Amino acid sequence: MTEQALSYVDTHFSRFVEELKDLLRIPSISTDPDYAPEVRRAADWLAEHFRKLGFLKVEVFETEGHPIVYAEYTVDATRPTVLVYGHYDVQPPDPLELWTSPPFEPEIRDGNLYARGACDDKGQLFMHVKAAEAYLKTAGTLPVNLKFLLEGEEESGSVHLAPFIEAHRELLAADVVVISDTAMFAPGVPSITYGLRGLAYVEVELTGPARDLHSGVYGGAVENPINVLARLIAGLHDEDHRITIPGFYDDVRPLTEEERRTFRELPFDEKAWMEEIGVSAVRTEKGYTILEAITARPTLDVNGIWGGYQGKGAKTVLPAKAGAKISMRLVPDQDPDDIVEKTRRYFEQKTPPTCKLRFTSLHGGHPVLVDTRHPAMQAAAEAMARVFGRRPYFTREGGSIPVVADFKRLLGLDSVLMGFGLNSDAIHSPDEHFGLDRFRQGIESIVHFLERYGQRPT
Ligand code: BES
Ligand code: ZN
Repeated sequence: MTEQALSYVDTHFSRFVEELKDLLRIPSISTDPDYAPEVRRAADWLAEHFRKLGFLKVEVFETEGHPIVYAEYTVDATRPTVLVYGHYDVQPPDPLELWTSPPFEPEIRDGNLYARGACDDKGQLFMHVKAAEAYLKTAGTLPVNLKFLLEGEEESGSVHLAPFIEAHRELLAADVVVISDTAMFAPGVPSITYGLRGLAYVEVELTGPARDLHSGVYGGAVENPINVLARLIAGLHDEDHRITIPGFYDDVRPLTEEERRTFRELPFDEKAWMEEIGVSAVRTEKGYTILEAITARPTLDVNGIWGGYQGKGAKTVLPAKAGAKISMRLVPDQDPDDIVEKTRRYFEQKTPPTCKLRFTSLHGGHPVLVDTRHPAMQAAAEAMARVFGRRPYFTREGGSIPVVADFKRLLGLDSVLMGFGLNSDAIHSPDEHFGLDRFRQGIESIVHFLERYGQRPT
């Protein structure tokens, strides 16, 4: 039945692309409350799509935030059950002026589909929908029992997802989770991601005087909160580019010699990597390669900073406030709550009496490592080998998908991360795109995966 499904994909591919474009036209930006109706529209669009495909159970679940789309096609209790997770929300498209074509008016150029969400993650989740369609419209059934859990809050921290999973354990019962929301190692070089970093995200605000002051009249005695903030931030790394927060590395599992050897064997071209992002030098934690530093070591980055005068020209002001958003990428076995507390202590202890500190934790997620010997990992590797003509590498990636740790903790489920993005797809950036070749290869890989995994005894 796989052959028929694959030839169906071939025949209907251009319609699949048109449908994806319709989904991409919906600006489902989860972080901006003004777009809540659009997020809902995307959820309804997907639910309607599942219903048209003949999914037997389709529901849009309300949460305190954006809705969760659930769809299910059960075939036979003796078959394994695959739970597909994806997110239909997207990042804000700003800065708008840097897009070649408008972010919510999908356009194909040079074989790439350009739109916000084309790769992250509408294009990738849609591959699973279309692989299911290919079986349903040819064989009238699926090789596995299939469940979809699609959320609308991934890009804003998935805050209502864990409680939902906890409250719907039975509904979500499965043998494995499959997610396409990561990247391939390189063009034409498939990979399965077995490690993701976690995240701890905080906001710091320092207040000095009760109001903005004339810097000539008060400067010299009143300490400037921007100066203080800059000093505290500069102190967060040492000369070896290690993070100085006391206890930050306590729970970091060191890379094994074997892992480091595997990393070295990967065909990672440091020079090409640097060129693509326009940097002429890098700064990694001392002793680590770029690839290790961006995937398997923890980091701390300031994501935004504010205070004082930002307008045109000069203004001699001694500002009352300064603030920064700071995120840390975590690796096993760091715990986001523990890291937030350690970071809070750092700022509490270093804030001088001239300033008042407001410290807020925004959101976080646990890091994960998946056992590559899992039967579904192996089925996915075989499936991708069929399509790409070479076996995928097992790699770690630096991004975060917080729900992966929740699936393990709450449902005992491992996740197979079979991603078809490329780091050059510009996710979260202007001109995000997805190669139509990879959209097709992704669908084909999933078709093969479902067949192979469906043959496993449960
Ligand atoms: N798809 C990405 C995660 C990703 C990107 C994994 C590249 C591997 C490689 C996801 O949508 C994302 O951006 N996640 C956020 C999570 C955060 C908002 C909790 C991230 O990593 O910043
Ligand atoms: Zn994503």
